[in-house]
Amino acid sequence: MKIGVVGATGEVGRTMVKVLEDLNVNVTELKLFASKKSKEKKIKFKNNDYIVEQLTEEKMKEKYDYLLFSAGSTVSKKFAPIAADYGNTVIDNSSAFRMKKNIPLIVPEINGMLLKDYKGIIANPNCSTIQMVLALSSLEKEFGISEIFVSTYQAVSGAGNKGIKELLDQENGNNNFNHFPELIHHNVIPVIGPFEDNGFTQEEMKMVNETRKIFNDESIKVYPTAVRVPVLYGHSESITFRLKSNATIESIKNLIIKTENVKYSENLITPLNVAGSDITYVSRLRQMDENTFLVWVVADNVRVGAATNAVRILLKHFELNHRKL
Ligand SMILES: NC(=O)c1ccc[n+]([C@@H]2O[C@H](COP(=O)([O-])OP(=O)(O)OC[C@H]3O[C@@H](n4cnc5c(N)ncnc54)[C@H](OP(=O)(O)O)[C@@H]3O)[C@@H](O)[C@H]2O)c1
Repeated sequence: MKIGVVGATGEVGRTMVKVLEDLNVNVTELKLFASKKSKEKKIKFKNNDYIVEQLTEEKMKEKYDYLLFSAGSTVSKKFAPIAADYGNTVIDNSSAFRMKKNIPLIVPEINGMLLKDYKGIIANPNCSTIQMVLALSSLEKEFGISEIFVSTYQAVSGAGNKGIKELLDQENGNNNFNHFPELIHHNVIPVIGPFEDNGFTQEEMKMVNETRKIFNDESIKVYPTAVRVPVLYGHSESITFRLKSNATIESIKNLIIKTENVKYSENLITPLNVAGSDITYVSRLRQMDENTFLVWVVADNVRVGAATNAVRILLKHFELNHRKL
């Protein structure tokens, strides 16, 4: 397959290249794109150096089997439609197209079947949403979910290369902050992204709207608080969820155990335990009443929450369509 990665020098883009290798995707030609300043940089794939090229409209008009975009919304809005108009399938990691009616928003284990006979732009959800819906997916299917109360504990890598650099610089004594709205070293910041008119942040409203779209249920109420913490890799989430019917804690545990790419654990799970993994971990399961339960969910935000989900979308799309498209 001929694959292009747009934003290949970024936190997610570099990880996409790694995941393509880790998941053994049959890549016969790999093209890497970033901004002008990264032209000629080298990135390794299967022990070979690949040269990064400057992204241009002309390069998006070539034929690819898949283009993985991870260079932010502005770049996606400009270049992804050009690539799609030229017959390419684009898997886009930004928020640019997620809530567009005709664009599928995909977590393959949940709604991957929407990719059958589909061509064009496919949206990859927000990192916090992916691990939350994966953890709850079997419960949603079996019982239906009416409400989700969630507080996130999000790693600085969720803000890309700049987020990681800001924490590391502060750990080394530099107390400037440009990227986060407060010092992040020795601190937590209960704001991620710009505010909306309703007082929630954009990051929080992504969890509300994307969850409804992925579960195809507009009635689900999500009550989110998104918080940045001084962790490098791995988002954690404290989730309380209310089911549409009553259940036992044993039935909840058994359904989580059977969920694809999700692992139930009786042990303490922290971000340091999951960094580099493609599994979403669910632990600290508790029952409050006959239909209300609590869990602690941890996953690698750059892999599960971005790069691995994108590559899983690619593999699912290929599996469903390779003879037809
Ligand atoms: N980090 C996460 O956990 C995560 C999770 C889910 C979704 N996302 C989304 O994924 C996207 C990338 O995030 P990231 O964390 O990887 O950010 P990042 O580390 O800041 O990387 C950004 C990438 O975009 C490229 N880029 C920026 N402007 C460009 C332009 N004008 N033309 C071509 N390339 C350009 C950069 O190239 P240069 O190096 O040349 O500047 C770099 O490769 C964002 O939309 C983000 O919201 C991130």
